[in-house]
Amino acid sequence: MPKPIRDGNGPRHVAIIMDGNGRWATQRGRPRLFGHHAGAKRVREIVQACPDVGVKYLTIFAFSTENWKRTQTEVAGLMSLFRRYIQKEARALHAENVQVRFIGDRVKLDRKLITLMDELEALTSGCTGVNLTIAINYGGRDEVARATKRLAQDVAAGKLCPEDVNEETLPKYLDTCVLPDPDLVIRTSGEARISNFLLWQSAYAEYEFVDTLWPDFSAEEFSSLIGGYGLRERRYGGVKA
Ligand code: IPE
Ligand code: IPE
Ligand code: MG
Repeated sequence: MPKPIRDGNGPRHVAIIMDGNGRWATQRGRPRLFGHHAGAKRVREIVQACPDVGVKYLTIFAFSTENWKRTQTEVAGLMSLFRRYIQKEARALHAENVQVRFIGDRVKLDRKLITLMDELEALTSGCTGVNLTIAINYGGRDEVARATKRLAQDVAAGKLCPEDVNEETLPKYLDTCVLPDPDLVIRTSGEARISNFLLWQSAYAEYEFVDTLWPDFSAEEFSSLIGGYGLRERRYGGVKA
C-alpha cells in the first residue's frame, strides 16, 4: 500500500462522488434509503482522515440536479436524511474545526433544510481545519449556467466589460469561487463517469474509480488512494521538467 503523503506532494483538494448506496442496500435485501443512511455514516470517518493525509479541502457529492428523477419516497427520504445529518453532526463538525460549505442551487430545497445549511455554514465559518463542501442539488452544467446568468447581469449593469470575461473571471461566479480546483476526484461503485460533477473545476484533476460501494469505503482505502496520487505525474499539457 503506498504511504500517505504529508510533504506537499499529496492532493490538497479531493472531491468524492459517493456512489453505490442503493446497490449496497439491494445486496442486503433492504430499501435504498437504508443504503443512504449507511453511506452518510461513512462521511465522518473520511473527514477525520483528511488532516492525517494532508487533505485541506474535501468536496462530496450528496445529491445531483438529476437525482430528482428518483421516486418521491427516495427523494423525500434523502432530504430528510440531509436535515437530520446536519442537526446531528453540526456540533461535532464545529468541535473538530471543520469549515462546512454547501454548493448547488438552493432554490428547489425546502425552507427548513436551507435554514439548517445556512446555520451550519455560519456556525463553522471561523473554523480553520478541513474545508468540507457538500454538494446538494448540484450539477456542473447548472452551476455554469447560473454563473453565466449572473455574469451577464454584471455586464448589463456595466460592472464587467465583455473583454474581461476570461478563465480567471468566470470561476469567480461559480459556487466554488472560494475553493481551489480539485486535484483528485474519486468515484466509488465501479462507474467510470463524472455524472455532471465539478465540470469546470476538474479540467485537470486526476481520477480514481474504485469498485467499493460508498457505504463500504474506509479511511484506509482513502489513504491508499491519496498515496497513489503522489506517484502520478501531472503535466497540465506541458512536458516533463
Ligand atoms: C449515491 O448512491 C447517492 C446518491 C446519488 C444520492 P446511489 O443512490 O446512486 O446508489 P446506486 O448507484 O443506485 O447503487
Ligand atoms: C452521482 O451518482 C450523484 C451522486 C453521487 C450524488 P448517480 O448515481 O446519480 O449517477 P448516475 O446516474 O449513475 O450517472
Ligand atoms: Mg448511483
